Amino acid sequence: MKKEIILTGDRPTGKLHIGHYVGSLKNRVQMQSDDRNQLFVMIADQQALTDHAKESKKIRESLFEVALDYLAVGIDPDQTTIFVQSQIPELAELTMYYMNLVSIARLQRNPTVKVEIEQKDYGEGVPAGFFLYPISQASDITAFKATKVPVGNDQKPMIEQTREIVRSFHHTYHTDILVEPEGVYPENEAEGRLPGLDGNAKMSKSLGNGIFLADDTDTLQKKVMSMYTDPSHVRVEDPGQIEGNMVFYYLDIFGRKEDHKQIQEMKEHYMRGGLGDVKTKRYLLEILERELAPIREKRAIYAQDLGELEQILKKGSECAQSVASKTLSEVKMAMGINYFE
Ligand code: TRP
Repeated sequence: MKKEIILTGDRPTGKLHIGHYVGSLKNRVQMQSDDRNQLFVMIADQQALTDHAKESKKIRESLFEVALDYLAVGIDPDQTTIFVQSQIPELAELTMYYMNLVSIARLQRNPTVKVEIEQKDYGEGVPAGFFLYPISQASDITAFKATKVPVGNDQKPMIEQTREIVRSFHHTYHTDILVEPEGVYPENEAEGRLPGLDGNAKMSKSLGNGIFLADDTDTLQKKVMSMYTDPSHVRVEDPGQIEGNMVFYYLDIFGRKEDHKQIQEMKEHYMRGGLGDVKTKRYLLEILERELAPIREKRAIYAQDLGELEQILKKGSECAQSVASKTLSEVKMAMGINYFE
């Protein structure tokens, strides 16, 4: 018997980068290896469409890239259900019923959506679908009766809203068929948000400051060599700063236990002066390559057979649909709208 049902998801708006890797992908592979857990990983293409309606082609491309990234890091379709949101119409149907339980004022209060609306400069033109996506996300989560939802801190309001919807549904229809999910949040700052190569607080595709899982060795090398270090560390002999220095930041994250001693020595040497950036970058390159080369190789193998990739997603989506469909039946029964049964 499975103890936890875990659901996570990503919007397919581009390839995944090493920030996703340390922030969530690694953790998923870990959770997958515990057979008390049942894992669902959803590619949230419908949610991506809520603010990229015109870019459906790009979303389609990203969907396959993201799926390749999943397989490459070791999310195993035999153990984990990988599925595509838009292929499960039950999720949209659930959203219809949940919409009646949420006020417009409540949606307007969602802090993450509020910030996103400001950032996107919609003015009066906020797409209704975008405004409603927290409700659709509640459908994603509850359709699978997920008990745990590992997400970034920015997703806390979505989990909160999902829990409210579950309570409201139970109260309104005098039932207890749904499950109130618990959010699982990053334990530390670095895991939650890996800074970009340029030292910007966030690694992101749009800022052009990321290392992608699909990057080849040359690209990786160029990116590492261009990393932000300590601008006042001009000559090799100058004492350098560790704090804010992205090379050391990444070394701390990607270095394994057996590397800690050397990293510590390098830090001391750097602070004393006499250790150049090229040397520290070469070392980081080695460490990153050790982690990323196997991922890249696996990705290339899967990328050779897109037919198989499609089959994996199709099969996962069929499996997800059968689960969602069961929950939807229960929902309709609780509401008394299962007229012809
Ligand atoms: N909103 C999530 C994000 O932007 C993606 C997502 C959609 C999701 N549906 C979900 C995450 C359900 C967890 C559960 O990262």
